[in-house]
Amino acid sequence: MKNKIQKVLMGCFSLLLLSCYYDEVVIIPDAGTPEEPIPDVISFKDNIQPLFNESCISCHKGSTDPVLEANVSYDNLLNGYVVKGDANASILYKALLNIDGIPLMPPDGKWSDSKINLVKGWIEQGALDN
Ligand code: HEC
Repeated sequence: MKNKIQKVLMGCFSLLLLSCYYDEVVIIPDAGTPEEPIPDVISFKDNIQPLFNESCISCHKGSTDPVLEANVSYDNLLNGYVVKGDANASILYKALLNIDGIPLMPPDGKWSDSKINLVKGWIEQGALDN
């Protein structure tokens, strides 16, 4: 009889312990800015130039080629830095990835994949002045 009570007590005790288990709040590590979906048609003016304004034109103005300020950036890029339809052959894309000996741009830290893919997509869609 005493044994039975002990068993029941043990049972209750373990239930009590189990009830202490709770789902931990899972904290998702900060992955930086969320990946943005790539638009079907990437616009140079609306999708690409704002990125240059944000992180390139502080240096790429005046005499630092390619000058990436609005209105001149497209012509300057197409003048040797972008091969229409071929991101892998484009110095602009290589600079974002720091490949083939092209220095990393921006120099203070690689862009997020979503930004780089936007530029890649724009080049592969024909690098339009759109
Ligand atoms: C801190 C200043 C600075 C910033 C910001 C910067 N660049 Fe540059 N960039 C340079 C300099 C200086 C050069 C000349 C090459 C060198 O000496 O590194 C250069 C060269 C380049 C080249 C030519 C590379 C070659 O080998 O011909 C490209 C393309 C380029 N930058 C694109 C960009 C883009 C796109 C951004 C923004 C994402 C950017 N840069 C941001 C300073 C900067």
